[in-house]
Amino acid sequence: MARKDRKKLVQLQNRSLISMTTPKSPIAEQFRTIRTNIQFSNVDEELQTMIVTSSGPAEGKSTTTANLAVVFAQQGKKVLLIDSDLRKPTVHYTFRKENHIGLSNVLTRQSTLEEAVTTTEQENLWVLPSGPIPPNPSELLGSRGMQMLIEHAKNEYDVIVLDTPPVLAVTDAQVLANLADGVVLVVSSGKTEIDAAKKAKELLESAKAKILGVVLNNKKVQDSQYYYYYGGK
Ligand SMILES: Nc1ncnc2c1ncn2[C@@H]1O[C@H](COP(=O)(O)OP(=O)(O)OP(=O)(O)O)[C@@H](O)[C@H]1O
Ligand SMILES: [Mg+2]
Repeated sequence: MARKDRKKLVQLQNRSLISMTTPKSPIAEQFRTIRTNIQFSNVDEELQTMIVTSSGPAEGKSTTTANLAVVFAQQGKKVLLIDSDLRKPTVHYTFRKENHIGLSNVLTRQSTLEEAVTTTEQENLWVLPSGPIPPNPSELLGSRGMQMLIEHAKNEYDVIVLDTPPVLAVTDAQVLANLADGVVLVVSSGKTEIDAAKKAKELLESAKAKILGVVLNNKKVQDSQYYYYYGGK
C-alpha cells in the first residue's frame, strides 16, 4: 500500500469520539447544545428518527452523527445509530466494531435487526454498522425493507440516528430523509459552497424532509466574535 493510502486508512480508522472520551470539553458541550436545539425545533411533532447529512463529502456528517447519538444516549435515551452510508461507511471504525453483519444484511434478509445490532462502550447506545458494501445502495435504502426496519427500530429505541452519504452525490440521503422525522444538515465552514448548501436544502425539501437545523462544522475559533469577546478585547 502506498504511504499516502496508508495514512488515509489510519486516519479513517483512528476516529475518536469527543463526547464519549471528553464529555466535559467545550466541543462535547456544543453537541449537547445541538441536542437541545433539535429537541426544541420540533415541539409539535414526534421526533424519533433523524438523518444527518451534508451537500458534499468529508464535511463532518459521520462525526456529527456519532457525537449526537452519544449525547442523546447520555441523556438516558435508548439510541440506535444506523450506518446508512452504504458507500463509505465509518461507524464501525468509530466504535471499533466488526462490519461483517449490518444494515445491508438485514435489508437483503440475511440477518435480523437484533442479530446485526451491537452494543457500544456508551451506555444506552447501540449501533447497526453498514455491513458489506452492496452494489445497489439506493435501491436497498429505498426498499420496503428499509421502511419496515425503521418501523421496527422505532418500537425498540427512543431515538434513531442515521448517517448518510452526501446529498449532491447520490439520492440516498433524499430517500432516507423521506423516511425520517427530521434532517440535520452539516455545513463545513470555509469548505461548503453556499450554492451547494442551498441546493442540498432544496433537494431535501423536495423529498418532503423536515430540516431541523444546520450544524456549522470546522468553524475556526479565532474567527468567532465569541472568542474575541471572551478573549478580553
Ligand atoms: N470539526 C472538526 N475538526 C477536526 N476534524 C474534523 C472535524 N469534523 C470532521 N473532522 C474529520 O474530518 C474527516 C471527515 O469527517 P467525517 O468522516 O465526519 O465527514 P463525512 O461528511 O462523514 O465524510 P464522508 O462524506 O466521507 O462520509 C474525519 O477524519 C473527521 O475526523
Ligand atoms: Mg461519513
